[in-house]
Amino acid sequence: MKQFVKKVSIVGTGSYLPEKIYTNQYLESIVSTSDQWIQENLGIKERRIASPNQATSDLAAQAGLAAIKSAGISVNEIDLIIVATATPDRLAPSTACIVQDKLKAYNAVAFDLSAVCSGFLFGLSTAAQFIASSVYKYVLLIGADTFSRITDWSQRECVFFGDGAGAAVLTHTEGNAGFLAFKLYSDGRGKFNFTVPGGGSENPLTRENIEKKLQYFEMNGREVYNTATKVIPMAVSEVLKDANLSIDDIDFMIPHQPSIRILKETARLIGLPFEKVMTNMDRYANTSAGTIPILLDELNKSGKIKKNNIILFAAVGSGWTWGASVIKWT
Ligand SMILES: CC(C)(COP(=O)(O)OP(=O)(O)OC[C@H]1O[C@@H](n2cnc3c(N)ncnc32)[C@H](O)[C@@H]1OP(=O)(O)O)[C@@H](O)C(=O)NCCC(=O)NCCS
Repeated sequence: MKQFVKKVSIVGTGSYLPEKIYTNQYLESIVSTSDQWIQENLGIKERRIASPNQATSDLAAQAGLAAIKSAGISVNEIDLIIVATATPDRLAPSTACIVQDKLKAYNAVAFDLSAVCSGFLFGLSTAAQFIASSVYKYVLLIGADTFSRITDWSQRECVFFGDGAGAAVLTHTEGNAGFLAFKLYSDGRGKFNFTVPGGGSENPLTRENIEKKLQYFEMNGREVYNTATKVIPMAVSEVLKDANLSIDDIDFMIPHQPSIRILKETARLIGLPFEKVMTNMDRYANTSAGTIPILLDELNKSGKIKKNNIILFAAVGSGWTWGASVIKWT
């Protein structure tokens, strides 16, 4: 379905990364892996890990507060809080309600959005619909995950993820800048290529299920690679068509950060010079829903993104879920 959402833009960004660092060298000391393999295949040198007293909502609230400050508005002006996460604090209530309380943003409606690594991208589109329809003026969208809590630290798959949160404030904008197009997709036939089998209604946290380690994520890395390099180029091509742009019009691509190999192959397939593909997985690994907003905040705060730059967002996540969107920066 074609979607043209105009006059919605991002007016504030924020992020929060926990202080504790797990380097590749540290992981070499606990599982059978190597710094060289991780850097060559995934592009990761280190990742951040939440402290025992930090839940996803703590990271999310810090990132959210920074985004509100950057937008120059007050907490009371936020109409809607969306938290995109695959690692909520609890099954109930939503992490967004916990964040609302931590921010004291009591004028806001709050709900979670579940699309795993595509969560922030799906959230951008969701937030934009509320603003484009004038239902709400300011939406605080947060992507936050603490995958360290669903990681089996005795397996070599522990190298992939890190903890972190990023946020953006969206509102109306005048003129022709702002979001130009969104394309979102889902395919539940791929549902178990990345999954956390335990902790929900199917496999509750019984002693037996915990002994089977069902509370940890399971991933088919090869399927992730094959799917990502197929669906992201397709989504990018479709979103550019909807926005009436060519790949040469893109100033920066801010993608989800699954692995350096996936991003290099994607850039090759879509014909975008890799210098235009932004990355930070070397420092933070894959922070799932946090990747895009953390990177966006870094580029925004460093002044790298300029007014009228055309930015391409793209992500793929468990579900499968995937998509792309284009914004003309204001
Ligand atoms: C992970 C990935 C690099 C593995 O590549 P692959 O060709 O599918 O690799 P395989 O799983 O068959 O493993 C090949 C070799 O790589 C090495 N290897 C795999 N995982 C490793 C790890 N965590 N640490 C060190 N070496 C590893 C091993 O030598 C392995 O051989 P072995 O199984 O005989 O020990 C690739 O599938 C990929 O990039 N997937 C995307 C994963 C991803 O992005 N996940 C995060 C988002 S959900």
